[in-house]
Amino acid sequence: MTRPLPQDVQDAATGIDVTVRQNTSPLTASELRAALRDFDGVIPTLGDVFSAEVFADVSDPRCKVLANFGVGYNHINVEAAHQAGLVVTNTPGAVTDATADTAMTLMLMSARRAAEGERLVRSGAWEGWHPTQMLGLHLSGKTVGIVGMGRIGQAIARRCHYGFQMDVKYFSRSPKTLAFPAQNMASLVELAKAVDVLAVAVPGSPETRHLINAEVLSAMQPHAHLINIARGDVVEEAALIAALEGGQIGGAGLDVYEFEPKVPAALRALDNIVLLPHLGTAALEVRVDMGLMAVANLQAFFNGDTPPNVV
Ligand code: 8YV
Repeated sequence: MTRPLPQDVQDAATGIDVTVRQNTSPLTASELRAALRDFDGVIPTLGDVFSAEVFADVSDPRCKVLANFGVGYNHINVEAAHQAGLVVTNTPGAVTDATADTAMTLMLMSARRAAEGERLVRSGAWEGWHPTQMLGLHLSGKTVGIVGMGRIGQAIARRCHYGFQMDVKYFSRSPKTLAFPAQNMASLVELAKAVDVLAVAVPGSPETRHLINAEVLSAMQPHAHLINIARGDVVEEAALIAALEGGQIGGAGLDVYEFEPKVPAALRALDNIVLLPHLGTAALEVRVDMGLMAVANLQAFFNGDTPPNVV
């Protein structure tokens, strides 16, 4: 385990001789190589960058399985892992509701200026309520656009439709059969034009890098908000900064950053953005579920079975 995981997860790894690395930061270049060289299996997570170079540097790796803790595995070059003879697994399902809840948190905070309001109270400068103070965007009944209608996208859409009576529109590469009303838009730009809130829920990958660029941001309406709970580099951060500084869009809520954990000073200086420290799944029971899933994948592999969540 490349980071300390909840105790229940460590306890669940029965029959496996587990080493838990007591460090919360990502594996270093030499630790990445040692992980492949010295262990039969690894439970890595966000930030442990198993690139093609790492696999190339370790010939005949002892490690045969990377059981990722998390649904997103853009930090692992899966093709290079396969070529090196490794199986890669992830933890879908376990993260869905918590991540969708974080999207709703950001949506409400951004639309209703909650972070800005909290800063005002904490500053001691709040002078009391008045009818036109800090007016935001009323979310109920508005239109949400979901970019990527996978598990998490659908969970966000359900919350918006059933909880907030919002119209749901989406853009997705593959056709979807959905259990709630939602309009599939012909292009991302068409989607951006049509919505009050644009929520990004596609996996991080070379194909989705900078999917939300200046063209998409300039298609958005001036009062609209952008929400990203996916991976930071799906949004071109420089273009977002320009759009927020220029008042091209109403606001944004981010849980992830292009150069995470670096958050540019220009973003931090803006009032019309909510910035969370990748809280997506940050609740103990969710992290336990994710860990149990990763351990189950590892155990299945060691037992000679096909792990349930191979990617
Ligand atoms: C995780 C996530 O907490 O599961 C994911 O891919 O983005 C988060 O919810 C973290 O990234 C570990 O993978």
